[in-house]
Amino acid sequence: SHSLPAVNNDKIGQAIDSLQSALHLIKAASNQSGPWVDARHLLDETVAALDDAGLALQCQPARKSVDMTKQLNPDEHYIRELADEVVNTRQRFLGGSLIHDTDGIWTKSVYGECDGFSFGTETDELYRVPDEEKKEKALIVYASQNGTTGGTTKTFAKHLCKSLGGDTYCDLRNMSGIMAKDLAMYKRVYIVCNTSGLGRPPCDGEVFYSHVQLEAMRCTVNLEDLSIDDEEEEKPLVGTSVAIAALGSTEFAGYAKFGLDLTNELVSLGASLALKTSTVDSRNGKSEQERIFQQWESTIVQMEKERLMEKGKPMLPTTRPRSSKIIPSSEAV
Ligand SMILES: Cc1cc2nc3c(=O)[nH]c(=O)nc-3n(C[C@H](O)[C@H](O)[C@H](O)COP(=O)(O)O)c2cc1C
Repeated sequence: SHSLPAVNNDKIGQAIDSLQSALHLIKAASNQSGPWVDARHLLDETVAALDDAGLALQCQPARKSVDMTKQLNPDEHYIRELADEVVNTRQRFLGGSLIHDTDGIWTKSVYGECDGFSFGTETDELYRVPDEEKKEKALIVYASQNGTTGGTTKTFAKHLCKSLGGDTYCDLRNMSGIMAKDLAMYKRVYIVCNTSGLGRPPCDGEVFYSHVQLEAMRCTVNLEDLSIDDEEEEKPLVGTSVAIAALGSTEFAGYAKFGLDLTNELVSLGASLALKTSTVDSRNGKSEQERIFQQWESTIVQMEKERLMEKGKPMLPTTRPRSSKIIPSSEAV
């Protein structure tokens, strides 16, 4: 029904190929039993495909922008459909339509001029929070795989919360409900997370981790642009210290990979480490796993006590809560 110059057909073919391979990558990333796909890679690949789509559509005769009021020919229609699918399906990892790349032809033609990219809404963005505005409470975050085994990190995190004096002293949150900016609101963050198949983050951690990876990219790009002397001071998580208990099992190749990789990403965003990340192996059973976690928890409790003593605040409870669920009283110290 239509014939186009060969050069345009090339661009159309290229766009369709790119969009299809981007969709393939998103599908692979979404596969729970496949490896994690770095959010930066996902963004790069989908942006490149959408650029190809934008170029192919711009190349159509008498078309300077992707003007949707004009009648689309079948090729254009197909490209538009694939592009919409890319934008919609990558949202699971990359957030809403406000994700832009600086030179994105597709995003510019569809959403207008913009500079830089943002994740979701502007209020989700990660900015440096001055120390005096950070909360005095500690933030405890847990992340598990949904389903039957999902409870361990929550149980451990709750136990830590209790040991630190409960709600008065800490906020307990599921990783699925927070963004990187929430970490910036606290001076002290404790994370208890496990690792799923092939080193993937658990379900609870997917969106948060994508977000952290994109913020790490934004941070790198911004610092390069600024070319300022004291880069460290400009990073958004400066003033936030983190400690991570990385659950996993040495039965698997990517042992505790999520907790370990998350540590590096948070450090690249400027967070300091209150402790070297501890791995908690579940290979030798539940009670051994609990014992290792308890060592980590004791160190945190000790650090918090010392901090409160320095501040001249009341001491934390010195005895373990009686209602402790994870440690039988015979084993409790
Ligand atoms: C299907 C499956 C895949 C897993 N893959 C990994 C892995 O790649 N790396 C790892 O360290 N642990 C892996 N684990 C182990 C969990 O992280 C481990 O069980 C952890 O202790 C979670 O605690 P929970 O299962 O008691 O909640 C896997 C577990 C399951 C069930």
